Amino acid sequence: MKHLLSMEDAKDHVHEILVLAGKFKRGEIPGEPLAKKTLAMIFEKASTRTRISFEVGMYQLGGTALYLSKDDLQLGRGEIVEDTAKAMSRYVDGVMIRAIEHEDVLKFSQNSNAPVINGLTNLEHPCQAFADLLTIYERKKSFDMKLAFVGDGNNVCNSLLLASAFVGMDMNVVCPPGYEPDVEIFKKAKKYAKKTGAELKIINDIEKGVQGVDVVYTDVWISMGDEEEASKRINDFSDYQVNKNLMKHADNDAMILHCLPAIRGQEITADMINSPKSSIWDQAENRLHAQKAVLYLLIS
Ligand code: CP
Ligand code: NVA
Repeated sequence: MKHLLSMEDAKDHVHEILVLAGKFKRGEIPGEPLAKKTLAMIFEKASTRTRISFEVGMYQLGGTALYLSKDDLQLGRGEIVEDTAKAMSRYVDGVMIRAIEHEDVLKFSQNSNAPVINGLTNLEHPCQAFADLLTIYERKKSFDMKLAFVGDGNNVCNSLLLASAFVGMDMNVVCPPGYEPDVEIFKKAKKYAKKTGAELKIINDIEKGVQGVDVVYTDVWISMGDEEEASKRINDFSDYQVNKNLMKHADNDAMILHCLPAIRGQEITADMINSPKSSIWDQAENRLHAQKAVLYLLIS
């Protein structure tokens, strides 16, 4: 794996990354495997977890991370992505990018000598999916189960579809009509799912979609960049809230996940975030361990 632009890039490394992440979490990888290495982190959008987990992860691995907001770079004044990539990748050992357009991350990688990691785009959020798989495996000790992703078929959902296909986990995308996941990614995920036996479905009926599932996952209704559609979205998603009533349709032992940030009272109620079913804070913590595994694999 040269870059991690899509979850698809990691298709042959999912098991390895999860094992490595577990080892980092338990402190089983000693020393500073990324000593003297530098990660550049370009942010076109806000971030709490991604920024902190990459920055702390690099530090813990013996390296360092540079926070570069687009506005502080010449990128914000019209330097093209290709030129930025050619110059930047001569200084650093890896580049993480949180970009508005997925296309820009692809362009960057095509002009970069250093590995490029997608830290969220309009299309995908692969780093999140590793933390999600790790959290599910820790609690359930298996991927032989069914996950319902409730809400917007967005970047988080797209990467999770590919991740589910790779590990053989069934996944229902439970969304209002018009908010289905990316067509191409869904097709790809279905192709991989044939090999692992994962059943991937898009279901508009929320009760049917969560019936008997083992994992209920949700994300914000209004992703970064969707703010102009806020009132339409709040209306369209109003029946797709993860709450106590909805959880009655899931398995009794179902767990709740959310990539965060959460808007209480929209996609999820506060009591569900705090419920014993929720593994949301472990999931947030696992971003760090998963990030270290990805960095170790790509940069060391
Ligand atoms: N889940 C996630 O990527 O969080 P941030 O936007 O805070 O990085
Ligand atoms: N779908 C959300 C995820 C945030 C981590 C967004 O893109 O804003």
